[in-house]
Parts: sequence; structure tokens; C-alpha cells
Amino acid sequence: MEFERVAKLGAEVSGIDLAPDLPQDVIDEIEQGLLEHRVLFFRNQDLNGEELVDFSRRFGESFVQPALAHKYQELLFLENDKSKPPALNTFHQDMTGLAQPPALHMLHALVVPDGGGDTMWACNYSAYETLSDEMKRILGSLTCTHTILGYYEPIVRNWENSEEKIKEFEKIFPPVSHPVVRTHPRTGRKSLFVNRFFTNFINGFTPQESENLLQFLYKHIETPEFCVRLRWRPGTLAIWDNRCTSHYALADYWPQHRKMQRASVSGDTPF
Ligand SMILES: [Fe+2]
Repeated sequence: MEFERVAKLGAEVSGIDLAPDLPQDVIDEIEQGLLEHRVLFFRNQDLNGEELVDFSRRFGESFVQPALAHKYQELLFLENDKSKPPALNTFHQDMTGLAQPPALHMLHALVVPDGGGDTMWACNYSAYETLSDEMKRILGSLTCTHTILGYYEPIVRNWENSEEKIKEFEKIFPPVSHPVVRTHPRTGRKSLFVNRFFTNFINGFTPQESENLLQFLYKHIETPEFCVRLRWRPGTLAIWDNRCTSHYALADYWPQHRKMQRASVSGDTPF
């Protein structure tokens, strides 16, 4: 297996066919590569949904997305076409509105548009490490409130009894508080841990202070030098560390068809 670095983060991995029953030393090598590069790209991978979930379980317990209509599922299909335009074109870290957001995602391309539909990742370590010592000191003592409802509310609004459902969501998934600077449990490196999807405000700040500082941090995370961009092909599989990267799915291919399958690994409480 070979790792070829692509940018500040990201590596193309060659010489491996991913499968649920790979020997443990190979899984360990993939995990080490992931900790080093944060995003790994594997081309021409042939796994069905069940195999993808089983492969992901080699890295930890499955993360089940709190799904709509209260169905819980380990395999998620992300599909957009003429009737369902893509709308996730914002940098974010997944599900930080939960007390324990997912650690890893594995996304596998099934149908890829002729042009467009790339994904970008940003390195939240780099974003943190390039701040001044004084800014690091200030951010180190701050926490933010995150909620998943910002993401789910527009979807739930289209349901019958939407008001009732939203109240139910608020009860099951109350807002959570996370540090603005997160320490990675495996590498010990610090990263910025705020995003446009799920972060609501900085605790203890006035609304203007919170909004201005958050906007600065979001833009800083999205610095092109901290990013890598993947051109998908059918069979491309990307694995990324959701604890220290942000991602952005480019919505530039509509009305073409794009279909991906995803399995995820649970994470711990950010500290
Ligand atoms: Fe996402």
C-alpha cells in the first residue's frame, strides 16, 4: 500500500483492495495513514453497502445518523438528481450538534456526474496552528453551543405535523456545548471545532461578538491553502476524520445524477 500526499491534507492510496476481512496490520496501516493525512482517497473500490459497513466496523462502532422519521440506519445513501437538487454546499463538520459527533466517514461513489460534484476538505489543524498565540489563548477558554436542528428543521418543515416533530427533535437532541478548540484523542493535536451548519453561538459572548468571531473562524478554516479537492470517479472511496477536517460537497452538477453510499464510525466527546 502506498500513500501519496496530495495537499496540506489528503493522500491518494494505491495498491490495496478494501474489504471487511483485511488483516489487522493492514487496517492499522490505513488508520495510521488516516491520522497522518486526515483524508484518504482509494480508487476503483468494489464494495456493496453491507461490505462498506462491515469494513467501517474494523475502525470502531458504527455511527448511526439520527435519521428522519426516527429510522436508524448504518448505511446512508446520498443521492441527488433532477428532482432532488443538491443543497449541502457549505463547509461543515458532521453532526457536531450531538454530544458525540462521528469520528470517521467512508464515502463511496456509485454514480458520478460527467462534470462537477467534487468534494473539498479543509484541515482544521492548520486553521488552528496558523493563528496567533494570543488568539489561541483566547479561543482555548471558549465553548460554543451546537444544535442539529438547524440542519433538520428545513427538512422537517415539509412534514405533516412539522411543529410537533420539531418539538420532538428538540427534546431528543437538546443543544450541546463543545470547546472551540478541540484536542484530537489520537494525535493530541489541536484544531478549530466550529462550523456553519451546527454551531449556533459562542457561550457568554454578545450576539455581535459571537457572530463576528465565528465568521472570522469559518473563513479562516476555508483558506484554500488548508484545502484539498477530490474529483470522484465511480468506485472512488474517501475516508476522512471528521474530528479535525471540514468538508464541502460542491453542488455544481445539477440536474445530473450523483449517488454515494456512506458508512460512519462513532466518535467520543470532544475535549
Ligand atoms: Fe457532511
